[in-house]
Amino acid sequence: MKQEKVQELVSQMTLDEKIAQCLQLSPFLFKGTNKNAELTGPLLQEMKLTDAHTENAGSVLGSSSALDMIGIQEAYLKTNRLGIPLVFMADVIHGYKTVFPIPLALGCSFDRETVRVMAEVSALEATADGHHVTFSPMLDLVRDPRWGRVMESTGEDPFLNSELGKAMVDGYQGDASKLNENLEQMAACVKHFAAYGAAEAGLEYNTVNMSTRELYQNYLPAYNAAIQAGAKLVMTAFNVVDGIPATMNKWLNRDVLRGEMEFDGVLISDWGAVAEVINHGTARNPKEAAQFSMEAGVDLEMMTTCYIHELKGLIEEGKLSENLLDEAVLRMLNLKNDLGLFEDPYRGLKNNDRTKDILTDESRGKARAAGVESAVLLENKSRLLPLAKEAKIALVGPLATSPDILGGWNVYGEEKDGINVETGLREVFETVEVVSTEYTELSEEDKVAVKAAVQNMDVVVLALGEKNEWGGEAGSLATIRLPEAQYQLAKFVQTLGKPVVITLFNGRPLEVKELAESSDALLELWFPGTEAGRVTADLLSGASNPSGKLSMSFPQTTGQIPVYYNHLRTGRPQTPENKGERYVSHYLDIPNEPFYPFGYGKSYSEFELKTSSLPKELNLGESLHVEVTIKNISDIAGKEVIQVYLQDVTASISRPVKELKAFEKVALQAGEEKTVTFELTSEAFSFYNHQLEKVQEPGLHRVFVGTSSEDVDVFEVEVGGYV
Ligand code: BGC
Repeated sequence: MKQEKVQELVSQMTLDEKIAQCLQLSPFLFKGTNKNAELTGPLLQEMKLTDAHTENAGSVLGSSSALDMIGIQEAYLKTNRLGIPLVFMADVIHGYKTVFPIPLALGCSFDRETVRVMAEVSALEATADGHHVTFSPMLDLVRDPRWGRVMESTGEDPFLNSELGKAMVDGYQGDASKLNENLEQMAACVKHFAAYGAAEAGLEYNTVNMSTRELYQNYLPAYNAAIQAGAKLVMTAFNVVDGIPATMNKWLNRDVLRGEMEFDGVLISDWGAVAEVINHGTARNPKEAAQFSMEAGVDLEMMTTCYIHELKGLIEEGKLSENLLDEAVLRMLNLKNDLGLFEDPYRGLKNNDRTKDILTDESRGKARAAGVESAVLLENKSRLLPLAKEAKIALVGPLATSPDILGGWNVYGEEKDGINVETGLREVFETVEVVSTEYTELSEEDKVAVKAAVQNMDVVVLALGEKNEWGGEAGSLATIRLPEAQYQLAKFVQTLGKPVVITLFNGRPLEVKELAESSDALLELWFPGTEAGRVTADLLSGASNPSGKLSMSFPQTTGQIPVYYNHLRTGRPQTPENKGERYVSHYLDIPNEPFYPFGYGKSYSEFELKTSSLPKELNLGESLHVEVTIKNISDIAGKEVIQVYLQDVTASISRPVKELKAFEKVALQAGEEKTVTFELTSEAFSFYNHQLEKVQEPGLHRVFVGTSSEDVDVFEVEVGGYV
C-alpha cells in the first residue's frame, strides 16, 4: 500500500480505534485463538477490556502457531471496521524450534556470519509459524554476571555487541525494504532501550545509575548500530535512565532515539512498563503513566491498559495532543504495511502450510555449527583433548542426561527435540558409561557409583552446570557459583586417577577456579541449544576444533564483580613493578585480573601471529592500517580470532586501558598462513568528551594486536596534525 493510503487510513480511524491500535495483548485475549480460551473471561474483566478493545487492538504478543495466528487474524478481520490487520510479535531470541546457542554463547563465536545465520533460521521458522516481529536483538551491554539476563546479551563489549547486533538485524530482516515480499524474513526489535544491562548489583529490575557520557560511550552504540542497520522496532527498558523510567523518558526516546538516531519505527514498551512508571514513583496513576509514556514517544503498550483506558480522557481534556497519538498509529500502520499485511494479513500462510521449514536437518546442522563456533576451550592441560573415538568415557554429572540444554529463551523450542550430552557422545564414542547425578546434591551412593563407573574407563567427562531457570529474566544470583555439590563432584572425581574433562553448560560466567584446578580440560559450552550433545561430541572428539573467545570476563570470585576488560585506569594502578605495595589499587585476597579475560579461548591448533610494523605517527582523521599475518603452525585445521584494541594514553578525560576496535575469525588449514588487514578509521580513535561531543584527540595511542585482550603485541602511534 502506498504511504499516502496509510496516512489516509489513519484519518479515517475514530479516536477509539486509534487508541486501541496502540495496545498489544496476549493471544488468549482474542477471539479465534486455539490456546487457553478459558482464560479469556476473567482476564478480560480484570483488565476491563471490552469487545471493542480486542476487536481493534493493534498487536498480538506470543501466539502459539500459524494456526493460532490464522484463527485470530480471521476472527479479528471479521469485525475490524477498516480491515486493519493485527501484527504478531514474539520472543524469538536464539532460534525458534531449532534452538541455537544462547546469545552470550553467540557473542563468544566472535563471528558475524554465525550470528546472522542464527537470525536467518529463526526468521525462517518463526514466519512459518505465523510470527511477524521478533523481540530481538537484545543489545544490553553487560558487566555483571549476577544478572540472569547476561545469557541474552552478546557480552561486555560495545563494539562486539554492535557488530553482532547488526548481523542479527540482517539475518532477521534481510532487505528491510522488502519485508512485504520476503515472507521468510521478519522485523527485528532492538531492546531494551536503554542500559537495562546495568541494573545495580545484578539485581533484576533494579536501578541503573550512570553518567550520560558513559551511556553514550558504552551503552548506546550497540542499539544505535542495529537501528542504523534498519531494525524496524525498539523496545523500552524497565529501568530508569538518569532517574526517569526509560518508558517515559522524553529525552531518551524523543531526543536521542528519534532525534539523534533518527529512528522512526515503532517504539514498544516492555511488558507492563507503562503502568510500572507508577511504581517507579514518577507518575501518580495510570492516567499520568499513559500521558508521560505517549509524550515520550511510546507507540505500543505491551500488556497493560493505561493507554486504552486513559488516552481518550487526556485528549478530550486537552492534556495530550491527538497529533501524538496519530503519529503513534501511523508508525503502527507503517510497520504493518512494511510487512505486507494489508495485502496479505496471513503473510503467505493461509493456504500454504510451511511446517516443512521448521526443524529441518539443514537448520539443525546450522545450530550445531553455531554451537561449535560458540564453545570456549578454557583449559587443555597436556593436550588431553581431543579424545580418540576409542577412548572409553565415563560420563558423569547432572548434565549428562539432562534435556535442560536449550537455554533461557527457548520459548518455542521443545526439550524432546534436543540432543542431550549422552546421546551426542554415544553417536561418536564407542564406549560411554553414564552416571547421572543431581544438580544440587552428591550422595555417598553417587560416589560409589561414580567410582565403579570410572574404574574401567580411560577418561572422565563431567557434565556440570546450571539449570536454565537459574538465569534469564528474573534469574539474578547473589553468588555466581554452581551448587557446592558440583565442585565436590569435580574434586572427588579428581582423586580417581583418571584424566578429567569438565564440560560446562550455563548461562553466565561462573566461579570456575576450583573446576579449572580439578580437571585436565575445561570446555565452556554454555547452553548450546537443540544440538547440544552433538556439539559436545564434535568438540571432544576433535571432529571440530574450539574457536570461541569469551565475550564476557570470568571473575575470580563474585566479590570481584564488576570486572571487565575495558575499564578505566586509576590514579594508583597496580603494575608488575609495584605489586606487593599496599597503597595501590588491589585486593588483599585475590588478583586484580579476572580469572579468564575477555577475548580468551584456546584451540587444538597453534597459531603464530605477526603484525607488520605500524607507522609511528598518524594524522588526525587518517586511518591506521593494521596488517596481521597469521599462521597455523600445528597439524590440525582450526580458527583463530585476531583482535585489535586501542588505548588513548592521554586524553581530556580518562580513557579505558583497552578497547576492542576490530576482530576477524580466520580459518586456517594445518600449516596455512593468511594475511588480514584491518583499517582503524578516525571513528575508532574517537570518543565522547566531557561536552558529549564525539572527538578524536591528538596524542599517544597504543595499538594492541593479539588473540585475547591479555595476549597481545603492543605498538605505539602518535596521533597529531602532521603534514
Ligand atoms: C522482557 C522482554 C520480552 C517481553 C515479552 C519482558 O518481560 O523483558 O525482553 O520481550 O517480556 O515477552
